[in-house]
Amino acid sequence: MSGMRDSRHLWRGIAVVWAVLMMAPLAAAEDAVTPATAAPEGEDLVLEGLRLFTQETFGGNGRVCASCHPPTNNYTIDPAFIRTLPAGDPLFVAEFDPNLGDLERSALLRERALILVNVDGFDKPAVSRSVPHLLGLSQTISPGRRPFSRVHMTGWSGDGAPGDGALRSFATGAVRQHFTRTMARRACTAASYDPARCDFRLPTDAELDALEAFQLTIGRQSEINIEPFSRRPGEIVFRDLNVETGKFLFHTIAGGDNLACSTCHRNAGANDRSGNGRLFDVGANKDEAAPACLEPGAVPGDGGFGRVIETTESGRTLCGGTTDFPVRFFGNDRFNTPSVIEAADTGPFFHNNIVDGVEESVRFYNSSAFARSESAGGLAFNFFDEEIDQIGALLRTLNALDNMSNADRLGALARRQATPPDVAALAVRIAASETEDAIQVLTGGPLRLYRGAGVVSLLTRALAAEQAAIAAPDPALLSRAIRLRQQARDRMIGPRED
Ligand code: HEC
Ligand code: HEC
Repeated sequence: MSGMRDSRHLWRGIAVVWAVLMMAPLAAAEDAVTPATAAPEGEDLVLEGLRLFTQETFGGNGRVCASCHPPTNNYTIDPAFIRTLPAGDPLFVAEFDPNLGDLERSALLRERALILVNVDGFDKPAVSRSVPHLLGLSQTISPGRRPFSRVHMTGWSGDGAPGDGALRSFATGAVRQHFTRTMARRACTAASYDPARCDFRLPTDAELDALEAFQLTIGRQSEINIEPFSRRPGEIVFRDLNVETGKFLFHTIAGGDNLACSTCHRNAGANDRSGNGRLFDVGANKDEAAPACLEPGAVPGDGGFGRVIETTESGRTLCGGTTDFPVRFFGNDRFNTPSVIEAADTGPFFHNNIVDGVEESVRFYNSSAFARSESAGGLAFNFFDEEIDQIGALLRTLNALDNMSNADRLGALARRQATPPDVAALAVRIAASETEDAIQVLTGGPLRLYRGAGVVSLLTRALAAEQAAIAAPDPALLSRAIRLRQQARDRMIGPRED
C-alpha cells in the first residue's frame, strides 16, 4: 500500500472508496431489502468498522486504532512517519499527560516505533513491540488444522487477543492496553460509562462485530503460488533471473536445522509448509539490537508465546558489552510467523523492529542470534551477499505485484461511470501512490530488477497517466495506466519457458 501522509478527514473519503471497492456487488443486491432498524450488515458493517477504527476513542485518552494503525501508512507506524506527527498527537500521550507517564517508553517509541504491550498480563512487565501492519489479516490468523488453544493467532506471539484469542476479541484488549486515561485501567461498559469513575469504556458486541468485519477486508484476500514445480496450477514464474533464483533459494533447504524459508513461510505467506499457522523461535528476541539491549536493565526481554515459563539471561551474553544485568523473559520464545509478501515496502521487521529494510531482514537468518534459536539448532543460513539480494529481489517483486493489483482495483473503481467524482478522485490518488510504491520497491534495492525489460519505464508511464488524471479526470487515462501496468506485469512474470 501507499506511503501517503494525509490527515484524518481523508479517511472518511477512504471509507467510501472502501465500501464501493470491497462490497459493490453486495450493495446492489441488498439495497431494497435491508430494513432501517436492522443491525448493520455487509457493506454497512465494514463501513461502521472503518469509522470506529479511525474515529472512536472509547472514552479514553484520545487515541483511536488508527493512531497506531493509520490506513494511509500501511496500517503501521515507523520512525519516519512518527516524525511527521505534531507533539500533541495522542500517540505521544505519555509525554504530555502526567497520569500516563508509564504508558510508553518515549525514546523507544520515537526512535524505533515500539509500543508497550502487557502481553503477559498486567502483573508482568510490559514488553516493547513493533506495530503489525494488518495487511492480509484474513490470510494470516488461522491456526490451521493443528490444535491450538485459541480461535485465532493474533499479535506477534499468537497470544495477543484476550479471552478466546479471536480477532474479534483483540479490540477489547487493545482498548484496555492503549486507550486508558490512567494506569489504574478502570474499565466500564458503554452503559455504565462515567468519566469520573472510568478510564475507558469497553467496545460493545456490535462494535466488535464491525471492527472485525472491517479488519478482514484489509489487504490481500488470497494466497499466491510460488512453489517451484509444485504441479499446482498458477505457479508464478519470474522473468528476471535474480528474482527466479530468489524463489528457488527461498524453497531450497539452505540452513538452520534442515530448514528453508518456505518451511515456515509457505508461498511467502504466514503459514508453514503444511498450511498451518505456527509459532517458531527464530531468535529475534535475543538479537543484540533487541529493546532489552537498548536500555540495559530498564527494558525486559520478550519471551513470545505464553506467560508461565520464566527465564533470566545474562545481558552481557545477549547484548555484548562489559557490564552485566539480568534480562527476564516470560514465554517459550516462539513468535507467530508473519506473511512476507507485504514486507518490502512496509516495516516493521520482526516483533521488535530490529532491522531496517527487507534485505537486512533476510540477512538476519545469517546471524548468531538466529543460529542460537530453537529452530536453527546451532546452524545459521550461510547466504552469500548475492543470495540475500536475490531473496530480497523476490520479496520486492511480490510486494510490487501486490501494489500493482491494488492500483488496478482502485483505477477500475475510479473510471466507472457510477463512481461519484470525489470518490473517484481519491481512488486515483491512492492508485497513483500504489504505482509509485511499486516503482520504489523495484528500484530501491541493491539489484537492478528487470534490467532492460522496460518494466520501470512502463510503470513510470502508468504513474504519469494517473497523475494527469488527478489533474484532469479522464477515464481513458486510467485505462491507459491499467494497460501499461498489465504490460509491465507481462514482462515480470510469465509461463515457464523450459
Ligand atoms: C498505541 C498503539 C496501538 C493502538 C492504539 C492499537 N494498536 Fe493494535 N497493535 C499494536 C501493537 C504494538 C500490536 C502488537 C501486539 C502483540 O504483539 O500482541 C498490535 C497488534 C494488533 C493486531 C494483531 C495483528 C496481527 O497481525 O496479528 C490487531 C488485529 C490490532 N492490533 C488491532 C487493533 C485495534 C482494533 C485497535 C483499536 C481498538 C488497535 N489495534 C489499537 C499497537 C496499537
Ligand atoms: C523456523 C521458521 C522460519 C524460517 C525457517 C524462516 N522464518 Fe522468517 N520468520 C519466522 C518468524 C516466526 C518470524 C517472526 C519473528 C519475530 O518477529 O520475532 C519471521 C519473520 C520474518 C520476516 C519479517 C517480516 C515482518 O513483517 O516483520 C522476514 C522478512 C522473514 N521472516 C523472511 C524469511 C526468509 C527470507 C527466510 C529464509 C532465509 C525465513 N524468513 C525463514 C519464521 C521463520
